[in-house]
Amino acid sequence: MTIEVVATRALLTERLDAVRSSGASVGFVPTMGYLHEGHGSLVDASVASTDLTVVSVFVNPLQFGAGEDLGSYPRDLDADLELCGSRGASLLFHPGVEEVYPTGTALPAVPVGDVAGPLEGERRPGHFAGVVEVVARLFRAVGPCRAFFGQKDFQQLQVVRRMVVDLGLPVDAVGCPTSREHDGLARSSRNVYLTGAERAAAPVLHRALQAGAAAVALPGWDRTEVEAMMVGMLAGEPTASPEYAVVVDPDTLLPADDPTSGRDLRLLVACGFGRARLIDNVGVVAG
Ligand code: PAJ
Repeated sequence: MTIEVVATRALLTERLDAVRSSGASVGFVPTMGYLHEGHGSLVDASVASTDLTVVSVFVNPLQFGAGEDLGSYPRDLDADLELCGSRGASLLFHPGVEEVYPTGTALPAVPVGDVAGPLEGERRPGHFAGVVEVVARLFRAVGPCRAFFGQKDFQQLQVVRRMVVDLGLPVDAVGCPTSREHDGLARSSRNVYLTGAERAAAPVLHRALQAGAAAVALPGWDRTEVEAMMVGMLAGEPTASPEYAVVVDPDTLLPADDPTSGRDLRLLVACGFGRARLIDNVGVVAG
């Protein structure tokens, strides 16, 4: 399928307004490119439930901290076009930085809710402020739509959902399951940074989450014991530098200290492997 590349917000808005005025629905998949099967699964979900899918590819400078990988973030627009076209997307929005930030990036204006505070928010100051800023600007260019996000970045999904509610945006933010390699490693554009030995060790994130989820699903579980067990599993890999392994309330991302049976909880881990910093998570119903 041929896919049209659009570089300006004005043209994108014009195209999508025309689509909506004919009664068709718009699906939107925001990305930073270097697309893999995980992104492909979001495109599939959009194509399956909306009439026209637009994918954005924009490496957002505002969400990278000093010393992070903005300059070296992997890019391959031809491969991205191929993936999006072959999965049935119709438009690829590929703006330049000056198109998204015409007056510069100095003054982010979109508020971040308190769900952005813990975990990634503590370790990557300013990251979620940059995410909500760009997602709000992209939503504005796209207009009313159903937007697809990966549960792989669970805190980001919750931060975006909160922004949609707080700003009253005409967007239905949908969370999609994490796409994994055969050995459980969550697919990520940053997996290319892993050396052979680190790649072999990295599935420990998923194993730690599965062990944690199995423990939380049993009655009588203890949060700090489960968290220590997960950190211990991560630390058992010589190439791993564990950052956190937590059991939290999925709405607040704060520690889940109420052990009520039947509660939905979320387990999240972050771990360094050489140049790469990997995150992953799973949901579980408390035992
Ligand atoms: P990026 O890392 O390119 O991810 C784009 C979308 O793909 C996000 O919603 C992310 O959660 C989802 N995704 C990534 N890996 C996935 C996997 N293995 N399975 C399922 N979904 C996966 O996230 C961003 O870009 C940016 O922060 C963005 C939202 C585009 C704002 O700049």
